[in-house]
Amino acid sequence: MSGLAVYPGSFDPPTLGHLSLVDQGLALFDRLVVAVARNSAKASLFTVEERVAMLREALAGHDRVEVDSFEGLLVSYARGRGATAILRGLRGTSDFEYEFQMALVNRHLEPGLHSVYLMTDYRWLYISSTIVKEVAAHGVDIGDMVPPSAARALAEKFRKA
Ligand code: PNS
Repeated sequence: MSGLAVYPGSFDPPTLGHLSLVDQGLALFDRLVVAVARNSAKASLFTVEERVAMLREALAGHDRVEVDSFEGLLVSYARGRGATAILRGLRGTSDFEYEFQMALVNRHLEPGLHSVYLMTDYRWLYISSTIVKEVAAHGVDIGDMVPPSAARALAEKFRKA
């Protein structure tokens, strides 16, 4: 595979699982756009700008990776960027139902855009942004689950709370 893939998500906050998927994606695609969704149905802890900043810091030095945000339909954004694929990670069967539905909807909307799923590394199987937030809210160090930019931002957020 080659070309450009969009790796979309909430990234609230980015985790080491997300970063590991970027590394895997770079082995398949020439360029990746990590795209933070603006209109996710989920309530978020961080603003889109904060999430973009955390990702940019964490991915600085990856010259084939761009961090951006998007509003509206993912397929419209991906088409506008000239992407040939959407990249997503799968942790286990619990992710599957939702991801399958999303991939089929996106294929229906934009048949030329292919959804590519990569298995997360086993080290990050149990990690999700939700789990990280829950643990961090109790003052536990999550430095082994998220990049330093996110660890700092979480500490700051919960210090203020
Ligand atoms: O990290 P998440 O929350 O699982 O990411 C989900 C996301 C943002 C990729 C998905 O909700 C999305 O694509 N939102 C944009 C709106 C859209 O295109 N919806 C139709 C496909 S479900």
